[in-house]
Amino acid sequence: MAFLVSLGVAVGFLCVLCSFFRRWNELRYWRRGLPPGTMGWPVVGDTIEFLRRGPDFMKKYGSLFTSHLLGSPCRERGALHVNRWILMNEEKGLVPGYPRAMAELLGEWNVTAVQGAAHRVVRGAMLSAVGPVAVRERFFPTLDEFIRSHLCEWGAGGAIVDVQEKAREMVFSLALRLIAGIETGETAAELKAEFFKLLRGTLSLAVALPGSAYRRGLQARNRITRFLRALIEERRRWRRSPSAPKGSSDILDLLLREEEEGEQEQEHHQTRPKLTEDQMIDLLIAIMVAGFDNVYATAMMAIKYLYDHPSALQELRHSEIRRRKSSPDEALTWGDYTSMGFTRAVILETMRLATIVNGLMRKTTDDIPINGFVVPKGWKIYVHTREANYDSLRNLEKHQYFMLFGCGGRLCPGKELSMVQLSLFLHHFLIKYRWEEAGGDKIAYFPRVEAPRGLRMRLWTN
Ligand code: HEM
Repeated sequence: MAFLVSLGVAVGFLCVLCSFFRRWNELRYWRRGLPPGTMGWPVVGDTIEFLRRGPDFMKKYGSLFTSHLLGSPCRERGALHVNRWILMNEEKGLVPGYPRAMAELLGEWNVTAVQGAAHRVVRGAMLSAVGPVAVRERFFPTLDEFIRSHLCEWGAGGAIVDVQEKAREMVFSLALRLIAGIETGETAAELKAEFFKLLRGTLSLAVALPGSAYRRGLQARNRITRFLRALIEERRRWRRSPSAPKGSSDILDLLLREEEEGEQEQEHHQTRPKLTEDQMIDLLIAIMVAGFDNVYATAMMAIKYLYDHPSALQELRHSEIRRRKSSPDEALTWGDYTSMGFTRAVILETMRLATIVNGLMRKTTDDIPINGFVVPKGWKIYVHTREANYDSLRNLEKHQYFMLFGCGGRLCPGKELSMVQLSLFLHHFLIKYRWEEAGGDKIAYFPRVEAPRGLRMRLWTN
């Protein structure tokens, strides 16, 4: 009996404590004029409910509400024109506001972490490294050759293959190839292991407890940084040697060539900004991380959707392009790529249906009135772009609320690179293989699109 009474008292005390903490958290963030909402628990806020309920969480209070996610107070989900206005108005004090773990692990010079003049410098370097001109004029043959040869090893004779794992491997190795000409071997394997630790850490709470994903991510970042610093040094030495070729074969070469040109310009008192070594390292890490999830998930989901929709698969067979080639394995040209209108539509439709990008985050640098409410300084805004996906869109890319690649001054610099990678992948994959689903594997759509146990397919070569 005494035990039951003590238990009752303890439970009662715990309930009072819990409601005190929740109330305290509400009062802490209370301001006049805020949209409705709850702030949840101290520190974690409503993060657990947000991750558990995913997009349904956004329907909680209608189109606009306040909450507390991933350690920050937030306002979320506006109408499409409000979302667009938020993304287009960085200079009014709506700057990128990604979670702390992501910012720390991607580095202080990561393009999403910098603003104003620094953003212009880093974004300019990013565009010259992976933007549309670089893809068309420098990387297209490398991308085509790499994807063709990578696909040879996927499987044959009805073997069961985890398409998710293969797509991950392909996208990561391709990034390494573009960055530093590394594809396979011990270095690539070590980097891959560190890279996945870093990636997992970006979606965690920024508390470096022993064994936590965040701490492992920090350790991985240190190792990757050390590796890149040594690589840059070695490359600089090699470029100075008389036998080094003058052109640039990968992104690192390109950055170092720009560095050398910048030095010459400075000798002639011109002032084109050049990247520091730390900026270069964060830029290379950003190239590895920024597109990784989105590109492999789109590749995987396109294979799945095409299997579910044979008529689309039939239309995608690129019979026109194939007629022009003497063998199915022949390299594609830029002209072939630009003629793949239906392929582009399949890729965008895959990204739309699978909701590859759910939303984008901004932070206020001042009190900002938005749609009749004032968002206090220092708050985060979760712009839930998913809604635009279900608007009745005909020509996706021309629609003003097309935000699969963001919009405004932060529009994705890797858009064309991703479209080329995915188009080449689909072309060569469906020339090489027939496939069917092997396990009816589940797909999780939130917080990122993935098959938690892999996506198994049977593959036959054509
Ligand atoms: C299917 C593939 C991709 C999708 C759906 C995608 C989507 C996006 C979106 C929505 C943004 C805007 C973020 C914001 O406004 O806060 C963005 C920005 C960015 N993306 Fe991509 N992306 C993809 C591939 C890539 C690739 C392959 C790279 C690099 C190699 C890349 C590099 C970046 C960078 C550096 C930014 C930040 C730009 C800035 O802040 O100025 N992305 N991307």
